[in-house]
Amino acid sequence: MNGRAWTMNDLDAIAAMEKECFSDPWNRRMLADSFLSEHFHGVLLEEEGAIVAYGGVSVVMEDAEIQLIAVSEMYRRCGRGQKILGDLLAIARAHGARRIFLEVRVSNAAAQILYLKSGFRGLYCRTRYYPDGEDAVVMMKEFG
Ligand SMILES: CC(C)(COP(=O)(O)OP(=O)(O)OC[C@H]1O[C@@H](n2cnc3c(N)ncnc32)[C@H](O)[C@@H]1OP(=O)(O)O)[C@@H](O)C(=O)NCCC(=O)NCCS
Repeated sequence: MNGRAWTMNDLDAIAAMEKECFSDPWNRRMLADSFLSEHFHGVLLEEEGAIVAYGGVSVVMEDAEIQLIAVSEMYRRCGRGQKILGDLLAIARAHGARRIFLEVRVSNAAAQILYLKSGFRGLYCRTRYYPDGEDAVVMMKEFG
């Protein structure tokens, strides 16, 4: 499984996957705004020319934040989430981050287990963080 960096041409497909994977998806405009930021790095995986997994991280000085990560439903539980996350961690480290943060829904056990397995720990909850009122768990990993 080899990841590659996003290009502008990927944004429509990623926006479509956002709609499939999230109740509060990023739209193309939000994706483009992040993509064009000097702090943003996006990676994706393809199968037979179609994007099946993607992620994005922003790195500002010593702090990084995972902004997006998703795997197409029929491709889950085969290591792609772990691969994308590993690539994002490597990118953050290579750009000088010493810590990396993320937010995840309290109900999203699959993602939380993935993050815990990758060395993240829960810090605190952000009450009613999501548009539907669900709380977020803020998680962090320090690079050794
Ligand atoms: C979270 C997500 C990215 C995981 O992707 P994935 O490709 O299925 O993850 P992997 O196959 O790499 O799983 C790695 C490990 O995470 C854990 N895990 C992943 N999905 C899990 C699930 N549904 N239940 C329990 N553990 C799970 C397991 O420990 C798994 O290892 P194992 O399969 O050897 O047991 C995927 O479920 C997804 O896209 N969900 C919708 C979008 C989303 O919630 N993104 C996160 C936003 S914060």
